[in-house]
Amino acid sequence: MVAARWWRGVFAPLVLASPFPTPPQHTQDQVSVLELSRAKAKAASEAATPQVLSFFDSVGFREMLKGCCTEVANLTAEELLQRYRAEAQVAELAHALPAPGESIGVFSDVTTTEVGELPWFPNEFEVALMHNRSMSEGAAPINDIAQKEIFGCKPFAGPKPTWTEASSRLIYIAHNMRRLDSGSEPFFGDLTVVFNSSRVKDSVVIAPYDTGLYTMMCLRPEMSGHHKMKKFLPHLNCSAWPVNLPVGTLDYLDHLILPNLAAPVNSSVTNRTILDTARELYTRSGMSKIDYQDVPALDLRSLGGYMESNIMANPRLPEVVKFGIGNFDTLFGTKDGQEVRKISQRFKWPLPPWLQSGMVPTIDWLDALMTVA
Ligand SMILES: *[C@@H]1O[C@H](CO)[C@@H](O)[C@H](O)[C@H]1NC(C)=O
Ligand SMILES: *[C@@H]1O[C@H](CO)[C@@H](O)[C@H](O)[C@H]1NC(C)=O
Ligand SMILES: *[C@@H]1O[C@H](CO)[C@@H](O)[C@H](O)[C@H]1NC(C)=O
Ligand SMILES: *[C@@H]1O[C@H](CO)[C@@H](O)[C@H](O)[C@H]1NC(C)=O
Ligand SMILES: *[C@@H]1O[C@H](CO)[C@@H](O)[C@H](O)[C@H]1NC(C)=O
Ligand SMILES: *[C@@H]1O[C@H](CO)[C@@H](O)[C@H](O)[C@H]1NC(C)=O
Repeated sequence: MVAARWWRGVFAPLVLASPFPTPPQHTQDQVSVLELSRAKAKAASEAATPQVLSFFDSVGFREMLKGCCTEVANLTAEELLQRYRAEAQVAELAHALPAPGESIGVFSDVTTTEVGELPWFPNEFEVALMHNRSMSEGAAPINDIAQKEIFGCKPFAGPKPTWTEASSRLIYIAHNMRRLDSGSEPFFGDLTVVFNSSRVKDSVVIAPYDTGLYTMMCLRPEMSGHHKMKKFLPHLNCSAWPVNLPVGTLDYLDHLILPNLAAPVNSSVTNRTILDTARELYTRSGMSKIDYQDVPALDLRSLGGYMESNIMANPRLPEVVKFGIGNFDTLFGTKDGQEVRKISQRFKWPLPPWLQSGMVPTIDWLDALMTVA
């Protein structure tokens, strides 16, 4: 039965017929936005380098490094920056997606079934059109604002985007500097796909922190009022990420390094400081030379500490995906799990499971979150 469903395909007829043709890898609008972003990122990154170096040489930062990460504590600020940039280039670009019917429903996302049947990896607005979902639902309005105001995407002319307008938007990606075994945040779905960085590197546009949270807490606080998880939203430091901060690229992101560490700590509501976030990053990341099996556990707050490194393209499947990561706890032995295995076999994606014996104690917490919400 599963095989029959697989081969017939829920989606294939829609894709072959006209309303949702395979979009170009880059639309004209994406090309223009990417060009402008690259130019701005280079200028902003170069202007920010001295500030980053002086932070790396500050007494507090050096003390922190000595405490957590002795192997790199004596490196010069320039060496530390080189390590940061090098790590950022190779950190996983990860997107977690749900099995059919498993979506948290906050925004439209391609499902594990659909991703096995489409010739490209669709963004949220393409999926919303394919699923015939209203653009005023869930996080769509928040994400639309974020994509326009942070990433410079062109506004939709009407209340519902055309196919070309939707195809000019971006795919949400977590940049896995903290080496989560789940790649992305696991509550976005049971299958994480990790993109081949060398195929997408010129399409990646980077914000210093999660743009949905930033939009709700900083750009449009009035819109977070109805968020069903409001009490779990972190208090951000909005001044740490100035409204006009240009996005970065994988080559130019020095200007995001400090905002990434500072945005999640607001001294009016927490005693944590930017040094605590920096310690978390350094103890988890490959920059510190701490072995993967020795890295400390992450709590939910730091799970979400990634730079949001979105792909502004319609990248081709299956080759744009390097491998998939299946959630062992929820997929093993289930129909969805079998389907994910099939997709991976067909596309020749390696599929390492992330195991509950890993270091991220998320699932209980997330069950609690979903229940409370
Ligand atoms: C770092 O420098 C301190 C003081 O110069 C020295 O005691 C320590 O052994 C050095 N650590 C490493 C890992 O080189
Ligand atoms: C899409 O949704 C609208 C509004 O909910 C509905 O009227 C329409 O019939 C749906 N179209 C398809 C193809 O399902
Ligand atoms: C810190 O958090 C408080 C409470 O949410 C908020 O009112 C304040 O604006 C925040 N400060 C900054 C700089 O974002
Ligand atoms: C917000 O971040 C800026 C820059 O790091 C810092 O100067 C300021 O004190 C922080 N404000 C709060 C409320 O944490
Ligand atoms: C911050 O530290 C002070 C003094 O140790 C303590 O009284 C206060 O409760 C702490 N605040 C938070 C939000 O943890
Ligand atoms: C990633 O893509 C490049 C081509 O850009 C290819 O040479 C490489 O083998 C791919 N890596 C993986 C792990 O698929």
